[in-house]
Amino acid sequence: MADSPVTINSPGGQSAPANPEPSPQEQKQMEQAYAQMKRKMSMEEIGRKIKHKIMVLSGKGGVGKSTVSTGLALSLAQQGHRVGILDIDITGPNVPKMMGLDGRRLHVENKRIHPAEGHMGVKVISMAFLLEDEDTPVVWRGPIKLGAIQQFIGDVEWGELDYLVIDFPPGTSDEPLTVAQSLPDIDGMVIVTTPQQVALLDSRKSITFSESLKVPVLGVVENMSGFTVNGTTAPGTTLNIAAPGGKTLTTTADDDGRFAVTLDIFKQGGGQATADEFGVPFLGALPFDPGFVRGGDDGVHRIVSEPDGPSAQAFANVVEAIQNQLSDGADGSLEIV
Ligand SMILES: Nc1ncnc2c1ncn2[C@@H]1O[C@H](COP(=O)(O)OP(=O)(O)OP(=O)(O)O)[C@@H](O)[C@H]1O
Ligand SMILES: [Mg+2]
Repeated sequence: MADSPVTINSPGGQSAPANPEPSPQEQKQMEQAYAQMKRKMSMEEIGRKIKHKIMVLSGKGGVGKSTVSTGLALSLAQQGHRVGILDIDITGPNVPKMMGLDGRRLHVENKRIHPAEGHMGVKVISMAFLLEDEDTPVVWRGPIKLGAIQQFIGDVEWGELDYLVIDFPPGTSDEPLTVAQSLPDIDGMVIVTTPQQVALLDSRKSITFSESLKVPVLGVVENMSGFTVNGTTAPGTTLNIAAPGGKTLTTTADDDGRFAVTLDIFKQGGGQATADEFGVPFLGALPFDPGFVRGGDDGVHRIVSEPDGPSAQAFANVVEAIQNQLSDGADGSLEIV
C-alpha cells in the first residue's frame, strides 16, 4: 500500500498534513535564515578569538587613516602581538599596497577566506584583493556593499589574534555602522585628524558619531603634526630658520654640530584641543614624514624601512596610549580579577 500522509486535526476541525513539503519560496527563506544564523555564529566565534578590535576613523578624507591603521598594526606586531588588518574601504582600498601585498589574490579553502600575510606577519584582508584591476572603481549599491562587508567579517579565517585593526573610508558612513553591528565587543575607535581647523571640525563629527554607534572613543591621533629638519654645522652655531606662517625658529647646534628643528606645516596642538573639548584621550602626534609617502608607493612601510626611527617611536607611543585605554592593561594580556 502506498504511504499516505499523516493528517492532524486542527482546532477548527480542518486537517493538515503533519510534514508538508516546503514551497520553493519557503525553502529559500529557510536556507537564507540558516546561512544568516551560521554567519552570526561565525561572527561571534571570530569575536571571541580576537582579543581586541580597534576601528580607525576620520571625518575627513586623506588625513592618514590607512597610514595610521597599518602603522598601528605593524607597531603592535613589532611588540610580538598577533595582528590583523581589515580594510573596509571598497572604493579606494590601499592597505595592501602599504603592506607590500599589491596584486595579491585571496585564498579560499572550505568556503573560508584566508587572509594574506604582509610585513611582520600581519594578516591582511582587503576589498582590493577582489578587484580585477586597481584602476577600475568599484560601484556597488549600498545593500550589496554592506552585504559584502558582513561576509568579509563572517567568512574570514583569522585564527587567534591579539588585535584586529579596521580601516574605514572617510566620513560617518554606513560602513562603520555595519561593522559595529556585526562584530561583537569592539574595544573602541581611534580618530585620526590633521592639525588644520577643517579636519578638526570633521573629527568632532566623528566623535559625536561614535555615540550613535555605541562604540567608545579610545582617543584622537594628530597626524602630519610637524616636520623635523635635521642637519649639521659648526658646533655652537646659532641658526635662524624661516618657518611657515612668517615665524623664525632659532636653534643652536650641539657639541657635535648637530641641530634639529621642527616646522609646524599645518600648525600643531589641534588634536589635543579637540580631545580636551570632548573629554576623550589624546593618544599622541605623528610627525610629517615623507617616508610614509614613499612607503605608500613602493610598498615598504616606514616602520619596516626604519623600525627604530622617530616615526616608529611615535607610533609606539600611540600604541602605548591605546593599550592604556584597553580594559586588560598595557601588554594586551587578560587581567584576571
Ligand atoms: N605622517 C605623514 N607624513 C607624510 N605623509 C603622510 C603621513 N600620513 C599620511 N601621509 C600621506 O598622505 C596620503 C594620504 O594618506 P592615507 O592614504 O593614509 O589617508 P587616508 O585617510 O586613509 O585617505 P582616504 O580617506 O582616501 O582613505 C598618502 O600619500 C600618505 O602617504
Ligand atoms: Mg584610506
